[in-house]
Amino acid sequence: MNTPIYSKLLKLKNEKRIPFHMPGHKRRGSGVFKEIEKMDITEITDYDNLHHPEGIIRESMDHLREIYGTRESWYLVNGSTVGILAAISACCDVGDGILLSRNCHKSVYNAVRLLHLHAYYFYPEISDEYDVIEGIEENQTEEIRAILNAHREIKAVILPSPTYEGVVMDIEKLRKAIEPYQVFFIVDEAHGAHFPFHEYFPKSATECGADLVIQSTHKTLPAMTQTALLHLCSDRISPEIISNMLSVYESSSPSYILMASAEYSVAYMKENVDAVQQYVDNLQNFRKKCAQLRRIHVIDREDLRCRDCDRSKLVFSVKNTGWNGITLFERLLRDYHIELEMSDSSNCIAMTSVCDSEEMYDALFDALKELDEEIDIQMTESRRPEWENNVQSYISCGKKMHEKVLESWQCERKEKEKVILDEAEGRISGDYVMLYPPGIPLLVPGEKILKETVENLRYYIYNGYNVLGLSGDHMIVLR
Ligand SMILES: Cc1ncc(COP(=O)(O)O)c(C=O)c1O
Repeated sequence: MNTPIYSKLLKLKNEKRIPFHMPGHKRRGSGVFKEIEKMDITEITDYDNLHHPEGIIRESMDHLREIYGTRESWYLVNGSTVGILAAISACCDVGDGILLSRNCHKSVYNAVRLLHLHAYYFYPEISDEYDVIEGIEENQTEEIRAILNAHREIKAVILPSPTYEGVVMDIEKLRKAIEPYQVFFIVDEAHGAHFPFHEYFPKSATECGADLVIQSTHKTLPAMTQTALLHLCSDRISPEIISNMLSVYESSSPSYILMASAEYSVAYMKENVDAVQQYVDNLQNFRKKCAQLRRIHVIDREDLRCRDCDRSKLVFSVKNTGWNGITLFERLLRDYHIELEMSDSSNCIAMTSVCDSEEMYDALFDALKELDEEIDIQMTESRRPEWENNVQSYISCGKKMHEKVLESWQCERKEKEKVILDEAEGRISGDYVMLYPPGIPLLVPGEKILKETVENLRYYIYNGYNVLGLSGDHMIVLR
């Protein structure tokens, strides 16, 4: 495979260098890390430097450019998070405006906070049938243009595509819509690093007119946690400013193991055409089999208003069955040892990759079939469990139910207090509150806490969701 970094690291084992340099394990450690540590280096002679690539890293980045068809591509060793921070910092000066989809990942909100940006929001459609955030329709495009028209300080537009559920936005259409305003267009494609490797997957934003695209290799490619890519796709931004910003946010000792892992994962997808085809066949067969299920529905492109759907994401809807996503998630884990990525009140999400075997799909299908029968019997006998829900899932963060009173960064040094949830309505949030995953803020500091939000939070606590930003049933508000 074409892997300059990985191949050179393999050679280290046979070199007779005596390491009087970092890291402290000296490539002689013990225990389970020993094999990995043999290749764990920093910028030793002939091994290049991620922050100033001229050798093997440069060569590897050139391959990335060819594969993804970009102007420049960087390896990231601190997740898409660092790519998002660097991308926004490259596009916006302190105090500028930014237009973001309200369902952006928390890293986007952190960039707003660090750069003291003025945040303007738009809201994609939401499917009432499936409780899933959908695409951006004509009326939202108009809304986006109206906001850009009214706020000329906006320098960049950013949105996630695909979303956690695999919904892909119409990037080409949006590009056209925002073109007259000369703003930078950043697409958080953290969940779409696999897109270029098979036509079964949607077209990547790198091909659709985005200026900057960020992808987590660790999410959907066979790569280690924290690995990601940042792609520059246009000539509106200079590669130097991106490199500068990356050197602000990213470690000065980037892990070669992580770089090699990201490189290997991309090369693997590019060169193992049969394995990728097998992956797609497995997905197609699995989806076909799931059509037999009577109550659990696997959401597909036809179900949602959006340009496209990433069908590597398996979203199991149990809405209106009397079950909720959390119950399905827990039953799969408890009774079948199958752990999915995420659940909410209506859905469960399974993330797949080229590394899943046919046996894994079979095990998942068999488990779903049994649970589907159980749901079917309960529904037929009208035994609807008491935990049936009528509360919004986390998609409420994508709904137009937020009232920004202050910018998040204006709350940083304001006096705050902890109040019980029941007394929070009408107060101004003093902290981020989010479900993790997906890490999309339900509340941003400076937002008024609405009745609906309090109700949703009560539901999350009651159902044992992982809600960050609350302590028990208390939350931080401005005094
Ligand atoms: C849509 C989205 N963007 C960005 C991120 C951050 O990615 P990473 O974990 O690679 O930093 C995530 C993480 O879950 C995400 O879901």
